[in-house]
Amino acid sequence: MVRPSLATTGLCLASAALAQAANLRGGIKPNKEAARQRAPEIFNAVHDAMRQWGSSVHHNGMSFFLATVPEGVLFHHGSHQQDTPTAPDWLAYEIEHAELFARARGPPPGPPPGHRDARTSFLLTVFDDYDSTQQVISESPVTSAAGAEGGWLHVYRTTKPLRLLYIDGMSAGKTRMGTLDTQDMLLRGLDPETIDDKVFAKPPKRPMGDIAKKPPRGPMDEEQRAKDLCSLCQDWGLQGVIRMEVGFEIIKCDFSDSLEQVQVLQRPSPHRGSRPRHGLGDLEFIRGIAERYEGIGASRTAIDFSSMVSSFFFSVNLTNPDAERQDLPRLSNTTATDLAAVKTYLTDMIGGRRDEARREVDWQGVSDMIVSRYADRLRFMVEKVVSTKMMLREVKFLLEMFIDHSKEGDSDLSDAVNRCAMFYLQTISRTTEADHMLHTAFTGVTTEICTTLFRVRELVVGEDDDDEGDAGEEEELLETAIQEVQGLLEYLRWARFKRCPACGLDEVCFIPMWPLGTVDEYHNPRCVNSSEPHRGESYWGSFPPRPEADRQANDEL
Ligand SMILES: *[C@@H]1O[C@H](CO)[C@@H](O)[C@H](O)[C@H]1NC(C)=O
Ligand SMILES: *[C@@H]1O[C@H](CO)[C@@H](O)[C@H](O)[C@H]1NC(C)=O
Ligand SMILES: *[C@@H]1O[C@H](CO)[C@@H](O)[C@H](O)[C@H]1NC(C)=O
Repeated sequence: MVRPSLATTGLCLASAALAQAANLRGGIKPNKEAARQRAPEIFNAVHDAMRQWGSSVHHNGMSFFLATVPEGVLFHHGSHQQDTPTAPDWLAYEIEHAELFARARGPPPGPPPGHRDARTSFLLTVFDDYDSTQQVISESPVTSAAGAEGGWLHVYRTTKPLRLLYIDGMSAGKTRMGTLDTQDMLLRGLDPETIDDKVFAKPPKRPMGDIAKKPPRGPMDEEQRAKDLCSLCQDWGLQGVIRMEVGFEIIKCDFSDSLEQVQVLQRPSPHRGSRPRHGLGDLEFIRGIAERYEGIGASRTAIDFSSMVSSFFFSVNLTNPDAERQDLPRLSNTTATDLAAVKTYLTDMIGGRRDEARREVDWQGVSDMIVSRYADRLRFMVEKVVSTKMMLREVKFLLEMFIDHSKEGDSDLSDAVNRCAMFYLQTISRTTEADHMLHTAFTGVTTEICTTLFRVRELVVGEDDDDEGDAGEEEELLETAIQEVQGLLEYLRWARFKRCPACGLDEVCFIPMWPLGTVDEYHNPRCVNSSEPHRGESYWGSFPPRPEADRQANDEL
């Protein structure tokens, strides 16, 4: 328990102690130069946190945050069994997500392979792999005949605030693309060289549908991963971790702690009556998840942004060995010493801040103000503006308020640029080291926006007069101006730039969310309806490796 009067002094002591501890341990430390270089990535990590859309676009998360789930929040748990889990297990934020697992173990219901249409076949194959992933976290043996009975949908309510570690990005996506790097390489310290053998080992060949035989560490290492994460949580005094796949989830280390069961109801047997319309391919399923694109909603989780610890804060090598995906950071080429240093820093941060009264700066709110002012207008400049006059009107609209026309006029605008860059940051007070890193990163982003826009203004400002200038020259100026803004969009890489225009009532804007989605859907997210075939190369790769029997079923596509 922390008394408010102590919390204030505790905070100063904590950050001083933190800096000292890091010094003593001699590891690398967060530094402003790194934050400046990674400014857009840090800005995006804050802006995307606990948001399904942004975390799907920037799916290789590099950051951690302390997070609190308040008392009285409902969570869902789908299982083949009625009993409350006694080992680390999973809670879903959405009903739709938990419903996927509220069924007996076994092959997914529905017609056998060969009698399915291509889309159903594809989705059910993914579903089967996906299902076996989640089920493994549960410890108990399979008692019912596979698929014979309906599973159980559990609902729990938090009876006390939960203190959790949020692992950002698509951190529950079991891929080889880097979504697991912060867990497997940083927190668990697995060697990148042997990770494929350990984590992504091909499961033993098994007869079609027999998923009762569990690999010792669980498919895709999920069982061992949950145990390892919970062992860290125990050291840290936390109750679990928040991750995201197609839906947000918590690995709750102990279901008997701070949870109260609200209801447990059995689902209908899949063999009685028709197959329930709750599968991954179901538009209603995607609709439920898509509701969280812009936030988890209803204050169900508060992130302490001032607790952020990110690999982006450190001068470490985040180069992706995949030359095609330089847009995605990875930890596979980061040295073990550097990874250990970041983990030590994280441990120190948690120790110093875990019990603080919540007094975080709403950095995500600041990012929202910035994104909402500029995002659509910048895209408009690149995609719709057709004359220098039109461009001038746009930049003038955004910049005029920062110019003191009694002094500056068109001459030296450096004060105006500075006013523009610092506008949304001037009310922020910085207490933690994370606050300082975030301030540096956000300033880097806003400075880039403002200097670019003032450059564009300078390019086109002379074009305001009425006399018709040289058309060729104007075209050239416009082209240069558009290129400037285009460069800015590429620097910012805001998830908002990928958002679909409003979709119809029978449609959902779709982007790949593990395990769903195709390569094309990642690069061109669009509104899809319930009869749209999700065909094409899986975005997430051929993963996990499938035993022969299943693969044959898939090859029918
Ligand atoms: C980071 O790692 C990549 C891949 O090993 C390497 O090519 C690059 O030179 C490294 N960058 C730095 C700054 O060390
Ligand atoms: C970078 O990562 C790749 C893939 O994990 C690995 O093959 C390579 O040896 C690494 N290079 C360095 C310098 O760590
Ligand atoms: C679904 O979308 C596709 C492609 O846009 C269209 O051809 C089809 O008619 C739509 N189906 C329904 C039921 O709206």
